Amino acid sequence: MIRSRITGIGFHVPPRVVTNHDLEQMMDTTDTWIVERTGIRERHFVEGDVGSSDLGIEAARKALADAGRTPADVDFVIFATTTADWMFPGNGVIVQEKLGLGTVGALDVRNACSGFLYSLSVADAFVRMGQYRCVLVIGAEVQSTGLDLRTEGRDMAVLFGDGAGAAVVEPSTDESGILSWSLHSEGQFARELWCEAPSSRVPGRVTQEMLDAGRQLPRMNGRQVFKNATTRFPEVIHEVLAKAGHTLDEVALVVPHQANQRIGDAVVQRLGVPPEKVFQNVQRYGNTTAASIPIALTEARDAGLVKKGDLVVLAAFGAGFAWAGTAMRW
Ligand code: UT7
Repeated sequence: MIRSRITGIGFHVPPRVVTNHDLEQMMDTTDTWIVERTGIRERHFVEGDVGSSDLGIEAARKALADAGRTPADVDFVIFATTTADWMFPGNGVIVQEKLGLGTVGALDVRNACSGFLYSLSVADAFVRMGQYRCVLVIGAEVQSTGLDLRTEGRDMAVLFGDGAGAAVVEPSTDESGILSWSLHSEGQFARELWCEAPSSRVPGRVTQEMLDAGRQLPRMNGRQVFKNATTRFPEVIHEVLAKAGHTLDEVALVVPHQANQRIGDAVVQRLGVPPEKVFQNVQRYGNTTAASIPIALTEARDAGLVKKGDLVVLAAFGAGFAWAGTAMRW
């Protein structure tokens, strides 16, 4: 049976860097609190009229160049984001138009922090069944425009950043490729990390009362997310390795969704692996939701931590709750 593999990756973040000290000027918080609780030191925020599609397109160009492909080679697009430019249509069609991809199909996925992995699983299935040969998978977010940068919103505001990452998925011609998947969800926790409005339940989609209460902005029960994330990450990593017939000792690198350094450290501890086996760059980008795994994977590969033939595990956990994992031979 043919396998699919990632043949190119790339990422893009907007140039404006926002440090914890910058946030101290906007709200009652401290660099010490943010670093101790999250490990985050800085993140990137867009300026002006920039949407997640713009960031995604830049990442996509880099991933295509990395794969040695051009837009003419792409035969399907999957765009993962919770912060699309518009309510509809999704960002996929914006990419199709701006990259000049003919009339290829474009699918949008809104599985938040696990959106990139869910999208990659669909690309993998399409390539394995022979339906498409070159699928462009993008994860991109502009979180900054949905953050309450006053003290009232500080629990969320210090965590998130903007950015994009992309991957090109094609048939493998050797031993490399995607080996296994685990995809999960648990909707009983939907309201623990969510954005309620605009909503089809509400005539006019949003009311002034909702806007005044900030119900159009994301909200989170941080402790509940933390508790579940630290259990589900190790669980899904073990699952995908078992399905692939491999063990943790054989893994060169685990690249988890970058939510919080304390979550990453808890994963290290629960897996019982040396810290260098779990890649973390949340310190410099914050949580970029659907973009975090392709950003981290690109940085890890560029740093020489992911080499041809290596066994790599990607894992994500976030809103839904939805979580996912995959094992692949690079
Ligand atoms: O992809 C998944 C996305 N979500 C996550 O990864 C979040 C997972 N959760 C977490 O990482 C942690 O729960 C947080 C970092 C969000 C919060 O840490 P915590 O240890 O759970 O703190 P807490 O929410 O219990 O708040 C402790 C205190 C509170 O003050 P009081 O009530 O003890 O006086 C908060 O008001 O810290 C206060 N606080 C802040 N102080 C300074 C909350 N946010 C801030 C802030 N700066 N930014």
